[in-house]
Amino acid sequence: MNQIILSIIANAGGVGKSTLATHLAYDLAVRKKHSVALIDLDPQRSLDVFCGLEPAEPAQSITSVLSQDFKGEWPLATAWKIDKVSVCQGHQAIEQTARTLVIHPRGHYSLSDRLKKYPLPHEVVIVDCPATLGLLISNALAAATHIIIPLQLEPKAVQGAADVIQWYINQSLDLGLDPRPDLLGFVPSAYEAGTAMHRQLLEQLPVLAEQLNTKMYPHIRNSKEFVNASGQGLPLQIFRPGHKANDDFHEISNDLSRLING
Ligand SMILES: Nc1ncnc2c1ncn2[C@@H]1O[C@H](COP(=O)(O)OP(=O)(O)OP(=O)(O)O)[C@@H](O)[C@H]1O
Ligand SMILES: [Mg+2]
Repeated sequence: MNQIILSIIANAGGVGKSTLATHLAYDLAVRKKHSVALIDLDPQRSLDVFCGLEPAEPAQSITSVLSQDFKGEWPLATAWKIDKVSVCQGHQAIEQTARTLVIHPRGHYSLSDRLKKYPLPHEVVIVDCPATLGLLISNALAAATHIIIPLQLEPKAVQGAADVIQWYINQSLDLGLDPRPDLLGFVPSAYEAGTAMHRQLLEQLPVLAEQLNTKMYPHIRNSKEFVNASGQGLPLQIFRPGHKANDDFHEISNDLSRLING
């Protein structure tokens, strides 16, 4: 078994990072039978909402993991009563933690150091990141074996994708990541077939992916049911088991499953 640590990275907010994190976690656990840990690095505690969890105390959140006196007791909650899905919850105090990490010599490698010294037993660890490319995302990159980049289908998507790739290459060099985490690919999110711009972008993006030497995954379709599901603290797979959008995550989890099984 190869443990995959997948960081979901984007340089914008609201592009579907947390949606991808939680729906991949469900698909990997239930359809592919893998054990999954979700880590919330977002001070807005997005995963609490998507996983239907009550807010955690700082000591029961990722802030305790990143603190200097962490002894390896990962605070993990179970999502959707599925034993195979554990969540290390976020907390807004992580912003304060990040400020102290900035001046720590290994501040960019804190998550990586914790995951090496006190490894999680899960086959997949999915790291959900905040929207801005700061120290927390550097931690997510340094800890990752793989990254995946959701793309919002809007006019600046192409430039945005190129910018994130540039950041990923430069930041990996700056952090001395050798090997650099593998880029699994881009995922166009919230695609609407009825929107001309979405159709045009979807035609352009494979060319861009080829230029950037990465994969363009099938799009995640737009559906208000994603919002309704998260409002109930559920993934769409539980909220609407027959919904076609549930299939949109399969190719990514199939690829991850192959990587786990080597
Ligand atoms: N495919 C989709 N169709 C419709 N709505 C979606 C889809 N994906 C995500 N959403 C909704 O868009 C909003 C933003 O999604 P999400 O929270 O996953 O993005 P994010 O990139 O994690 O945002 P943030 O940067 O704030 O963490 C949420 O309300 C979510 O339910
Ligand atoms: Mg989010």
